[in-house]
Amino acid sequence: MNFKELCTARQSCRSYKNEPVPQEKLDYIRECVRLAPSAVNRQPWRFLVIDREPMLSQVKACYSRDWIQNVPVIVICLKNEQEAWTRQSDGHNHADIDIAIATEHLCLAATEQELGNCWVCNFDVQRLMGTGLIPEGFTPAVLVPLGLPADELRPKTRKPMAEVWG
Ligand SMILES: Cc1cc2nc3c(=O)[nH]c(=O)nc-3n(C[C@H](O)[C@H](O)[C@H](O)COP(=O)(O)O)c2cc1C
Repeated sequence: MNFKELCTARQSCRSYKNEPVPQEKLDYIRECVRLAPSAVNRQPWRFLVIDREPMLSQVKACYSRDWIQNVPVIVICLKNEQEAWTRQSDGHNHADIDIAIATEHLCLAATEQELGNCWVCNFDVQRLMGTGLIPEGFTPAVLVPLGLPADELRPKTRKPMAEVWG
């Protein structure tokens, strides 16, 4: 796959086969995430691979959509605002930008490894913070389910080029 083909193949997967994710695929994805850039190279992030009970059920309970129930692995993408770079001119903290870049590395690497994945931000942050899984100083930013996909490639709905560029 060239990069454009990879961008086309990546889609939000909301249907998974309840089968384990091979460890070598996970290891490849972990390295691709580690290589992501961040402002002033602060790398203000941590990623938790949740693949066993009772933690998996605890995390699924923080996202009230039925499709999450069949997912074998969820990655919790954590940001650390204290570690992240803050722009002096306006005080803007860059943790969200940094975690977004690394999370998209995760999703693209997973797609290349033929694993279904999906950005999930509409989860209950307070409930997840209350599970005891989140290390001190970190805040969950995104959940990314991973697993063998059970759905087909869909055409993308996107703004036309002239509305996006120029
Ligand atoms: C920041 C962000 C948050 C998202 N949160 C959710 C979510 O909570 N639940 C969900 O099902 N999809 C979520 N999505 C997926 C988007 O709905 C999806 O990327 C968009 O509709 C485009 O479809 P595609 O990913 O299949 O190309 C999120 C995507 C992004 C980038």
